[in-house]
Amino acid sequence: MKQSELDFINSLRQSSRYIEQHRGKTCVIYLPDVLMSAPESFKQLSQDLSLLHQLGLKIVLVMGATAQIDSALTTHKINWQLHQHFRITTTEMIPIFQQTIGLLRSQMEAVFSQANTQHASPLPIISGNWVTAQPKGVVEGVDFQHTGKLRKINHQAISASLEGGQIVLLTPLAYSLTGEVFNLNTLEQACEVANAIQADKLMIFSSTQQLQNMPKQMNVAELECLLQASSDPKQTHFLSQIAKTKHCIKRVHLIDQNSPDALLQELFTRDGHGTLIFSDRYHQLRPASIEDVGGILEMITPLENQGILAKRSRERLELEINNFIVIERDQDIIGCAALYPISNKLGELACLAVDPNYQGQSLGLELLQAIETKAIKAHLKQLCLLTTHTHHWFIEHGFQLNELKALPKERQSLYNLQRQSKVLIKTLHSVTYN
Ligand SMILES: CC(C)(COP(=O)(O)OP(=O)(O)OC[C@H]1O[C@@H](n2cnc3c(N)ncnc32)[C@H](O)[C@@H]1OP(=O)(O)O)[C@@H](O)C(=O)NCCC(=O)NCCS
Repeated sequence: MKQSELDFINSLRQSSRYIEQHRGKTCVIYLPDVLMSAPESFKQLSQDLSLLHQLGLKIVLVMGATAQIDSALTTHKINWQLHQHFRITTTEMIPIFQQTIGLLRSQMEAVFSQANTQHASPLPIISGNWVTAQPKGVVEGVDFQHTGKLRKINHQAISASLEGGQIVLLTPLAYSLTGEVFNLNTLEQACEVANAIQADKLMIFSSTQQLQNMPKQMNVAELECLLQASSDPKQTHFLSQIAKTKHCIKRVHLIDQNSPDALLQELFTRDGHGTLIFSDRYHQLRPASIEDVGGILEMITPLENQGILAKRSRERLELEINNFIVIERDQDIIGCAALYPISNKLGELACLAVDPNYQGQSLGLELLQAIETKAIKAHLKQLCLLTTHTHHWFIEHGFQLNELKALPKERQSLYNLQRQSKVLIKTLHSVTYN
């Protein structure tokens, strides 16, 4: 079998758990103006959205149109002003907003009609007056006129459309109960709609600049710290919008708008593509440091005494601490694992343990996957381990029982005959997890 075919099969295997995880979940996706400006990438994105829809995700799209509106206003020789990052929308601008957004909506419907051709039916996309607006008002003496803010969301109607198998599209235009037209900030709208419909995920396509210096993952406390440290007003505005979702949305994903494949990569791979901000996990997986030795010993000593783990002295642990990763929760170490290089192709997983109070929450699996990712990054091809009690757990996670002689001679010579541990080996694939 060709390498490309093998890679494809492995990717399919790895992604299957995410397919199951995401089925039936509601996902609000913020599409900024630039995505609509590049027809070819937008076509690809619409096909990816069609795939997500077929895999059972319920999708709400919130479309930004700043660049297109800037260009239309320039064409009509209308100047505009910003205040606190928001455009002041005058009465004379409204027909131009309506034309521009009407045109974009029509273009989007056309692209979505094409996206689903394999299934001989257009991808159903629907928009409507589900968002009620009110004036943003006069702020610091500046009248925002037709720039509005969200007053109410008919979340039942949105949910009913999603249940009916439709993709919901929201645009910057919304209407007041008095029938006036308002221009809403779409990032703000995406966050508020996600809150109102209690979406499982909010995915925000962001600029490379907005994603600069962002870690791969952070919890809401870390987001708050980043927000407080931010000195760039645009970044502060961006982060503060996202921070408002922290009590309602478990996962916010920030993905690069310049990477057309980012959406699928973020959802179906272990490492994702951009930054994940989570409020449903209060633990942190990270490399261990010397300060963690006490916490690790506290957790593994009872397991060593039961013969489940091989004994390690404090001195040895201190020397080998760089091989360890830990899971920390509220400053306690509740999980650990280590990777030891055996040869340039083989690594050994050792000392995998989860505090009994936290077992059964997939933390063991999370540690195993982190070790596998670390091994793959170190260009190792196989992972081996020795265990006395836990071989079934490892077999369930892709390891195979082997003879001791399958290990390199140097490792065989260190085998503790008294422990009679079972030898397991797993071949690593270059695909990572989410
Ligand atoms: C093995 C261990 C790390 C798994 O951690 P965890 O966070 O509970 O793992 P997960 O939540 O991903 O998996 C839990 C599942 O594994 C099963 N499991 C736990 N220990 C097992 C074992 N020894 N054999 C087979 N299955 C086991 C649980 O019953 C549970 O099954 P379920 O999902 O069907 O209910 C944890 O049980 C542990 O610390 N064990 C003691 C140390 C150890 O044996 N380490 C391995 C030696 S290197």
